[in-house]
Amino acid sequence: MVEMNRRNFLNAAAFTGLGLGLSNVLGACSKGAKFNINELYPIYKDGQYQEKNFEYLTKNDKLGLSPEIIKNHLGLYSNYVKNVNQAEAEMAVGNVTEFGMKHLAFSLNGMALHDIYFTNMSTEESKRSSSLNRAIDKTFGSFDAYMKNLTELAMKVEGWSVTGLNLLNGKIFNYALQDHSANFPNFIVPILALDVYEHAYVADFKKEGKAKYLEAFTKIVDWDIVSRRLDLVKNLA
Ligand SMILES: [Fe+2]
Repeated sequence: MVEMNRRNFLNAAAFTGLGLGLSNVLGACSKGAKFNINELYPIYKDGQYQEKNFEYLTKNDKLGLSPEIIKNHLGLYSNYVKNVNQAEAEMAVGNVTEFGMKHLAFSLNGMALHDIYFTNMSTEESKRSSSLNRAIDKTFGSFDAYMKNLTELAMKVEGWSVTGLNLLNGKIFNYALQDHSANFPNFIVPILALDVYEHAYVADFKKEGKAKYLEAFTKIVDWDIVSRRLDLVKNLA
């Protein structure tokens, strides 16, 4: 378990930047509260981003996604973890390469978004916190309008539909990413990630079945995790 207080977070954030560059700095907490960030965001430990074990998802027959598609997807995630670690190791010693320049951002985001996506997927019963409902209502007016926006964006891109908190104005918005890196501004911290690359659904739903995949995904969002992520980051806004 990695725990930090708000001051430590801000000190760390000053060096690392924000947005999707998530690492152990998101062990932030406020007002003395402590969070187990291991289940909320990626882990950076011993100089490496850590690959988490999401194999349990392949054994969940209520998920609505086949074990095969999850297994293949976990393989992609594994490569992002390896690539960002390799890119950081190369760039840290001044070895500027095309690989390093690309994967310092592309694979960091790929690693982080997949971690967030797999983590916010569960068939256990969960519910939104009152603070998440307030944040949703403030921006979208209603939960239905929020979900409509999230899935509409998802239909328009091959990449990601992400709910993130804007640290500059304290509001949540949905962002449509055409790939791991595109269209994602600084100062946004994701609290929910929805993968809409074809590798996430075509093998189970076919390309024309994207809407059905989105419908399946909306039934397995772990709103408890999403609520806790919002609690974690909103105090920084
Ligand atoms: Fe993916």
